[in-house]
Amino acid sequence: MMKRNERSSLVLVLVFVLIVSVTFSLMSVEARKHHHKKSNSHHKHRKDHKGGSDSSGPALGPAPAPLPPYGSYPPQTSMTVFNVLSFGAKGDGVADDSKALLEAWKAACKVSAATLEIPSDFQFMINPITLQGPCMPHLVLQIDGTLLAPPKVGSWPKSSLFQWLNFKWIHDFTIQGTGTVDGQGSDWWTASQIYSIQKKSKHIPDIKPTALRFYASNNVTVRDIKIINSPQCHLKFDSSNGVQVNNIQISSPENSPNTDGIHLQNTQNVEIQHSNIGCVGDDCVSIQTGCSNVHVHHINCGPGHGISLGGLGKDKSVACVSDIVVEKISIQNTLAGVRIKTWQQNQGGIGSVKNVSFSNIQVSDVKVPIIIDQYYCDKHLCKNQTGAVAISGVKYDQIIGTYSVQPIHLACSNDIPCTDVDLIDIQLKPSSGNRYFQKALCWNSFGKSQAPLVPSSIDYCLRSDVSGSVLRSIARSHEHVC
Ligand SMILES: *[C@@H]1O[C@H](CO)[C@@H](O)[C@H](O)[C@H]1NC(C)=O
Ligand SMILES: *[C@@H]1O[C@H](CO)[C@@H](O)[C@H](O)[C@H]1NC(C)=O
Ligand SMILES: *[C@@H]1O[C@H](CO)[C@@H](O)[C@H](O)[C@H]1NC(C)=O
Repeated sequence: MMKRNERSSLVLVLVFVLIVSVTFSLMSVEARKHHHKKSNSHHKHRKDHKGGSDSSGPALGPAPAPLPPYGSYPPQTSMTVFNVLSFGAKGDGVADDSKALLEAWKAACKVSAATLEIPSDFQFMINPITLQGPCMPHLVLQIDGTLLAPPKVGSWPKSSLFQWLNFKWIHDFTIQGTGTVDGQGSDWWTASQIYSIQKKSKHIPDIKPTALRFYASNNVTVRDIKIINSPQCHLKFDSSNGVQVNNIQISSPENSPNTDGIHLQNTQNVEIQHSNIGCVGDDCVSIQTGCSNVHVHHINCGPGHGISLGGLGKDKSVACVSDIVVEKISIQNTLAGVRIKTWQQNQGGIGSVKNVSFSNIQVSDVKVPIIIDQYYCDKHLCKNQTGAVAISGVKYDQIIGTYSVQPIHLACSNDIPCTDVDLIDIQLKPSSGNRYFQKALCWNSFGKSQAPLVPSSIDYCLRSDVSGSVLRSIARSHEHVC
């Protein structure tokens, strides 16, 4: 049997040997990769380390904090973990940590299955940056702390107003963690503030940054994080393929105009699931031209504008959207429920929206739960159109709940009607206490309906007498581009 003293000194020796070996292996890794200070460590920060004084990794003081069991941080793992603090980030929410993040990104990008760590309990102020690939596969951006955008409109570089964090040309990449991406948009939402910078420079575009944007990227996953207070759109995927969004929270407060939740453009093979999106200013999910094979499910949306396809075909642009499934959605206190909108100015009608299914949608106090609007227009007086994006194959199944203005509004183009529109099991009642609602509106929409249908006027909504000339004009407009 060892005496107590012997045992504790043995423990101390073991701890010392452990620290020395871990530190030594880290130092050699460091020395190889970067010419960094030896006090730096790539270790994940432990939650109980608070403040900025411990940015050098595990404590080496005389009374060491309890170390994790030996097996829990094997040195070979730490070689692939790149903590932004090790690259000079302050994490105080004030100092500009953009450069540190960029350096950490560059280092992590070169290593297969690397993790770039944004540690918890720190706030990193980051100016608009582009985090660019291609990188080695399986790169993870682990956001456990907070990323903060510049708080003042005037402090944004004028050349970087399109987005804040721009991920470009990356494949096989994941953002995850328990942390927050905070766009600090309140300054942008104040119209007077915009006016005051416009006075300073006439060339400020009428544009507000997106918080997180992916461009030309494949196989990207965003999960678990919170994205809040974006100046405009919170999460955008542009010209990408293979997107997974899972279990994220998006929110901005009631006074935030034009703040979209998730925006998809020219992006295919997308799944958005199990997320909460509450953006007052604009759409929870916005699906724009060039999107196909998009599956949106188990989303809680509202307040906001609901889930939208479009506005498509702005300024005579080509619009092609197909194979969209939106199901098992709960929508509260929004302007629209599920909506397809095409711009009225799209004279000539190029493109199509086809094969869209909205099913199992619960609505609560939604102004207009079901909308097709081919007269979408941001001016007071838009010219009458002579063509439109062709809309066909849209199924509404189990759209159930309450509305505050109108149950259904299908305003299809005069020239090209909507075809194969199915209304199945639609049960919409006015919100309690609301007596000023409008009747269902249906214009130039063809298809079938199937009971139960509440209000019963929905039964007369759709026409079934498609004439030959109408079908031919639809076919012509489909031929164009998609
Ligand atoms: C994307 O994922 C698919 C399916 O897992 C795979 O076949 C494809 O090679 C991946 N593409 C890239 C660029 O990682
Ligand atoms: C419609 O879209 C769904 C979902 O993307 C797809 O599985 C189905 O094959 C499409 N149908 C047609 C006729 O293209
Ligand atoms: C557009 O013009 C047509 C024909 O002149 C007319 O019947 C229709 O009501 C007009 N639509 C709108 C939205 O003004």
